[in-house]
Amino acid sequence: MKGGDRLSRVYTMVFDVIGDDRGSLIALEQRGDIPFDIKRVYYMYGTTPGTKRGFHAHIDLEQVAVCVSGHCVIDVEHQSGTESYRLDSPDKALYMGGLVWREIRDFSEDCVLMVLASDCYSEADYIRDYDVFSDRLAKDFHGA
Ligand code: TYD
Repeated sequence: MKGGDRLSRVYTMVFDVIGDDRGSLIALEQRGDIPFDIKRVYYMYGTTPGTKRGFHAHIDLEQVAVCVSGHCVIDVEHQSGTESYRLDSPDKALYMGGLVWREIRDFSEDCVLMVLASDCYSEADYIRDYDVFSDRLAKDFHGA
């Protein structure tokens, strides 16, 4: 399959902030703010200094990642190339859909990285071997 309806897409999102003199509030609703039905939410925190996480891709999963506290950097490789995104504000998020290799680094001590996902946890949706990911990306999107 060359592309087809399989996703390999990454883009940044900026959430609306409801703020007043008491502080700020962000509300996320599926389909409105988040472009999929949210079936799972998980978050990483207490990440030890120097730790890198991720090092995998998903086959079909869509995710939106946001640092609700602190900051980190997500390096991605997907259909359109490689990019790095710094998430450093609760209103700044990264959408990742389908075949996207991701590595997460430079977690601040106070980082809480929340991820909204389009499906429940399934190890069968993971690709954890970079060479397998790279071959699949070439085959699906670049006609190799
Ligand atoms: P993993 O996705 O491999 O995270 P990372 O690539 O950052 O190390 O998840 C780490 C462990 O947590 C792995 O054993 C699977 C488990 N896990 C769940 O049980 N449910 C989940 O929703 C997630 C994201 C992970």
